[in-house]
Amino acid sequence: MSKDKSNRTTNDAGNPVASDEFSLTVGADGPILLQDHYLIEQMANFNREHIPERQPHAKGSGAFGHFEVTQDVSAYTKAAVFQPGTKTDTLIRFSTVAGEKGSPDTWRDPRGFALKFYTSEGNYDLVGNNTPVFFIRDPMKFQQFIRSQKRRADSGLRDHDMQWDFWTLSPESAHQVTWLMGDRGVPKTYRHMDGFSSHTYMWVNAKGERFWVKYHFKTDQGIEFLTQQEADRIAGEDSDAHRRDLFESIARGDYPSWTLRVQIMPYEEAKNYRFNPFDLTKVWPHGDYPLHEVGKLVLDRNPTDFHTEIEQAAFEPSNVVPGIGFSPDKMLQGRVFSYADAHRARIGVNYKQIPVNRPKSPVHSYSKDGAMRVENVSDPVYAPNSKGGPSANHTYTEKWEASGEFMHAAYTPHAEDDDFVQPGVLVREVMDDAARDRLVSNVVGHLKAGVSDEVLKRAFEYWRKVDKDVGDRIEQGVKKK
Ligand code: HEM
Repeated sequence: MSKDKSNRTTNDAGNPVASDEFSLTVGADGPILLQDHYLIEQMANFNREHIPERQPHAKGSGAFGHFEVTQDVSAYTKAAVFQPGTKTDTLIRFSTVAGEKGSPDTWRDPRGFALKFYTSEGNYDLVGNNTPVFFIRDPMKFQQFIRSQKRRADSGLRDHDMQWDFWTLSPESAHQVTWLMGDRGVPKTYRHMDGFSSHTYMWVNAKGERFWVKYHFKTDQGIEFLTQQEADRIAGEDSDAHRRDLFESIARGDYPSWTLRVQIMPYEEAKNYRFNPFDLTKVWPHGDYPLHEVGKLVLDRNPTDFHTEIEQAAFEPSNVVPGIGFSPDKMLQGRVFSYADAHRARIGVNYKQIPVNRPKSPVHSYSKDGAMRVENVSDPVYAPNSKGGPSANHTYTEKWEASGEFMHAAYTPHAEDDDFVQPGVLVREVMDDAARDRLVSNVVGHLKAGVSDEVLKRAFEYWRKVDKDVGDRIEQGVKKK
């Protein structure tokens, strides 16, 4: 609804209405008339204000900005968005994962870092997290994993027993759980955390040469975190603390920014790398693949309508542009299907016509009709055709090779695949004594909240596999009265 200069209330059809305060009645004390269509419109609209919340990542905040390329990475990708000097409008949505729309921003959880680049070649979405790894490596387990983090069937309560049951039966979760239980599990604000693609993607240059890449958005504000005690206090005092911080800092002109750096692996090296480079539970050591700077992301504009611009924003890993492709990461392949399906269910089939989701470059698709379509479709409505309709460019598919029998199986092993080596390195080489103490204390606190004896026993072993000393300390801490 736009508010014109006369500032007179109208109904949704633009007809002036007679009262903002009083229903139309027969005499001052008489019954309300059915012909008070404005009253009925307001009631009906109110009853339909909510759309379903996102299944995971329901609580979030967003802002607009731009991404500017500062370095030359054209040797690795031909994508227009990453060519030297290019400046592209962006939308970002930060989120927590397991909580509902009204849940506290400071609950311990990974944070979503979902970016939409409105490029000259259509929308490019990079839907990442503030962690470089994830809990699982096969999309078959994703739905089960999220259910274990949300609410029980009987009481409707969240349940630490359920969470640790799933994690300890899924040893591939150890790396991400170590991140989660450490300082990175509660950032001080959305501005004080990094963002990662987490997945490996393909880049293709103008000569057709292929590379594997991982994206790291490094916060220019510096990494800062909250202790468990601080997070608990803020959850009670201001459950929207991170939303407030983001909105207020942009409103006062203190624009947060991130520097994008990428790790680049030559295409052929993936086959015999010491561990599977497409396994989402692993990071690539920087000693093997250093960071190359690409450009800067700046957030400088708040939404004016949270519902239409942030709640209805639809990010989808399937939105890729020429020069960027997927990879053999099975999680990524699952996600390429899942998001558009979620948007059709949550927003409706024509969600891409909502202004925040609409590309800023021309759309020539053959999709037509459906509920709430607002853009006109024109003939011809089929392809191939001899009537001058758009035709596809077959060079756009970014490819790799695969062969084998159909099977339900784990990835083919590489020499050094192991679920506990990288979390062990994180605990022993990245954390200092104080950070390790906080890790132990956070895990002990979490395990003490309703975890059954059988699951506890597995949790102590899980942590001893990450690090013997940390595991022993966690067991002692839980058993201490
Ligand atoms: C949101 C599915 C893994 C990051 C969502 C949503 C679904 C979903 C259905 C809600 C979308 C909506 O209603 O708008 C999946 C599946 C996964 C997976 C099936 C694995 C097979 C991941 C991973 C990451 C991630 C590995 C990060 C690297 C996000 C983010 C959002 C999200 C940031 C919120 C997007 C927003 O702000 O609108 N996911 N997800 N997800 N997911 Fe995933």
